[in-house]
Amino acid sequence: MEKQKLILDCDPGHDDAVAIMMAAKNPALDLLGITVVAGNQTIEKTTINALNVTQYLNIDVPVYSGCGQPMVRERPIIAADIHGKTGLDGPNFKPLERKKCSRHAVNFIIDTVMDSDDDITIVTTGPMTNLAMAMRMQPLIIPKIKQVVFMGGSYQNGNVTPAAEFNIIADAEAAYVVFTSKRPLVMVGLDVTRQALCYPKIIERMAKNDNEAASLFSSLMEFFCKTQKEVFGWEGGPLHDPITIAYLIDPTVLKTKYVNATVDIKGVESYGRTNCDMFNYNHWEPNCNVSYELDIEKFWNIVESSIQQYS
Ligand code: BDR
Ligand code: CA
Repeated sequence: MEKQKLILDCDPGHDDAVAIMMAAKNPALDLLGITVVAGNQTIEKTTINALNVTQYLNIDVPVYSGCGQPMVRERPIIAADIHGKTGLDGPNFKPLERKKCSRHAVNFIIDTVMDSDDDITIVTTGPMTNLAMAMRMQPLIIPKIKQVVFMGGSYQNGNVTPAAEFNIIADAEAAYVVFTSKRPLVMVGLDVTRQALCYPKIIERMAKNDNEAASLFSSLMEFFCKTQKEVFGWEGGPLHDPITIAYLIDPTVLKTKYVNATVDIKGVESYGRTNCDMFNYNHWEPNCNVSYELDIEKFWNIVESSIQQYS
């Protein structure tokens, strides 16, 4: 079976870290590089976090640091209330020996896609700044990208404002560039990620696997679920980002609908909203496969078998 090539662009982040764990050792996937963006924390911290995760799990994949601020707005928005001061509070990491690669993440994306046989999927689990910058810097990459699978947006409520989800509002202009790129898009929004609630019994189930990945998963999720309860009042935190990787491993984990989807970059209250025309009110051309249902049991099975790949 031919492996699915991908670049994972992320802002670790507890759920991003689980996505890295799942993408790195799956026999169906070929993770070419991890590119990092500012999001859950500053770019310095998210880069260190990606390196810590790869070192902890002995993952042999290069890490490239990218953009530290959104394309247009001056200041990044961070999510320290959910992910803590480091952006990855919870686990105890050994002193960091790994180093990031010297090439900028945007240049890595451009070079890798340009050199490819048009068979690379880009997965984004943070703000879309790196990918949008790459598309603007070298538009020739756009037709060569196989598909973009992203965690972001919502056709219902947001999680930063009533309208907007974090990854989109953190760089709405970048999301606008990607949404208008005319490449195949798969949106893994809050509508499905809020179905993947990591209850204590899930943490117990994963911990039983008793390997490095299981212990990382447990320490990450214990912290993440605590802050999710403080901020949103939920017993189990939604494991947003890993659903993108689960979808690549087994697309039947999601049900999607091909509709027109736009990003609001002009609104005030609705700035950063993803308007997904699920009922085709506007009769505009579809551009995005919007997820609306998660097979929850299948998802947790994929997470568990990913953990078992580290035994
Ligand atoms: C998204 O925001 C971040 O805090 C998470 O890592 C996820 O990518 C959910 O809105
Ligand atoms: Ca993320």
